[in-house]
Amino acid sequence: MKPGYLMSQVFCSRASPLDIPHPRYVLRSNHQLQSFRFFATTFGAHPLPVSPLSRYHPSPMPKITVDGKTIEAKDRQMILQSCIDANISVPHYCYHPGLSIPASCRICLVEVEGIPKLVPACQTPVRDGMIVQTKSSKAIANQKQVMEYLLINHPLDCPVCDQAGECFLQDYSYEYGRSQSRFEEDKVKHPKKDVGEKIYLYADRCIMCTRCVRFTREVSGTSELYVDGRGNKEEIDIFPGHPCNNKLAGNVVDLCPVGALLDKDFLFKQRVWLLKGAPSISPADSGGENITLEYNEGVVYRVKPRYNADINQWWISDDTRYSYKATQDERRIKRFRRKQYGAQLDTIFDVALEQATSELKSLVSNNGTGTLYAMLSPMMACEEAWLLGQAIRKMDPQAVLILGPVPTAAADDVFHNSMTGKQTFVIKAEKVPNAAGIRRVLQMLGGPNATYDELASASRPELQKLKGGWIVGGYLSSWISGETPDLLKKGFRVVQDLLPSSLTESADVLFPVAAWSEKDGCWENFQGKIQPFVSAISPPEGIRREGDVYYKLLGRTGLYNAQAIRAEMGGPFAAVTIPVESASAPAPQFVEI
Ligand code: SF4
Ligand code: FES
Repeated sequence: MKPGYLMSQVFCSRASPLDIPHPRYVLRSNHQLQSFRFFATTFGAHPLPVSPLSRYHPSPMPKITVDGKTIEAKDRQMILQSCIDANISVPHYCYHPGLSIPASCRICLVEVEGIPKLVPACQTPVRDGMIVQTKSSKAIANQKQVMEYLLINHPLDCPVCDQAGECFLQDYSYEYGRSQSRFEEDKVKHPKKDVGEKIYLYADRCIMCTRCVRFTREVSGTSELYVDGRGNKEEIDIFPGHPCNNKLAGNVVDLCPVGALLDKDFLFKQRVWLLKGAPSISPADSGGENITLEYNEGVVYRVKPRYNADINQWWISDDTRYSYKATQDERRIKRFRRKQYGAQLDTIFDVALEQATSELKSLVSNNGTGTLYAMLSPMMACEEAWLLGQAIRKMDPQAVLILGPVPTAAADDVFHNSMTGKQTFVIKAEKVPNAAGIRRVLQMLGGPNATYDELASASRPELQKLKGGWIVGGYLSSWISGETPDLLKKGFRVVQDLLPSSLTESADVLFPVAAWSEKDGCWENFQGKIQPFVSAISPPEGIRREGDVYYKLLGRTGLYNAQAIRAEMGGPFAAVTIPVESASAPAPQFVEI
């Protein structure tokens, strides 16, 4: 059997999917409505499913019946999205709620009562009273034909493919495919391509859904990827000398429904069914992107976006995606150390804590109040800052609380849809996650406080009185750049940090810290949204989480409990709750033809 046979059955003859306009645009004016009719009739799309007047008299919550079940949809929602929202499974490849709708893969075709041809569920808006069949014999026959067509040239390399276990093609092949191929000719071979600093394209596996191409046009606005050729020679490619290296590039790997676009960083590291997920927040900047940390046996292997309509939608920046790398840095501080006879030596937690508290207390008894400071890092959780602030103030009621350095780029990175010019994503210039949260905690704790710049210039007289303090770092890269402020070079200094620096090397007592992936807490983003994160893994052996250290410092019993501390802090913190993982997709059912 020739591929052309199925091609004609399934796809008719049509232009590139990217040439077909999105209905969101075509239904905005009469002229555009005509364009849609033209494309619909010329390229074999379905007849116009709803009266154009219906948009002026929309039914607020249209009710449709899908496979005998009545569901409530949203006004002008597509059939497919209303099915997804109602947990009704309809196969789809090219559709993604964050991208335009080319309706090119044709696997989502369904029967709608009153329309003679099958219609793409992803591109057909709902209408009150619509009756849809997704499992009629015509719809199932189409699904099987599409699957057979897609598998003609797809290599059988699931055992070595990184996508195995989360591959749409694999799942739908099991659910809608045939158990045997009727294709006897040689498969068309496409090369493996290096399309970006972090991305490989295994072109053989591509099913031409064009999600990746649409992403680079409609979200990153960089348009590096395009479709080259037509028919079975069609390939995704980059323009020579313009690799897909934009700051959102990793999202194309998430979008690819099969194993064609692969993350070099994750390649061959883990089988995806071994990974577990923990809801978390990006530590890379103040945007507060929602993420899932995917881990196995105490190691984080990758970071995936977690949908949040108000913040990051479906996307994350590459800074966020690879932020976990810093926690696996070979130079990471893992030992407690203290100064003895002028030299820093390894010690144990209890001895380090004892030396830190007795020296800080004696500074206050010798010099009076207003002697100590605590530098609270914008990498700390709000709960930790609250506890440390209280602990220092318990030793010295006039201790100065300081917000640590807030590294900031020149400007936000703003991304636009290259066709409409609409803003699609922003990477914030502030390169720490919780400066806003620490400012809020400082306000709640009250008393003397200062900024890092004031500390660096020692501009205020009360700062000159400081004789020692507790300094928290925890940044994912070096934060002491240039000259260390004089105040941080003298006096008694307890330092807690993730990576070594001149400050950690000269500390009187040094505590390692747990990374954000190893502890619980919450951060406040630039919009004032306070969002919790939970630990995915334990800290490396011997490291005490900061919350546990501060519990001891305060003389509290038990282990640090972020939820309990938030309740104690009150205000907006008391209302913060851990997000519940969304329900898993329904299990596929095997259908034999
Ligand atoms: S590479 Fe993946 S996302 Fe891009 S068109 Fe092919 S299958 Fe779709
Ligand atoms: S045609 Fe509807 S999902 Fe591809």
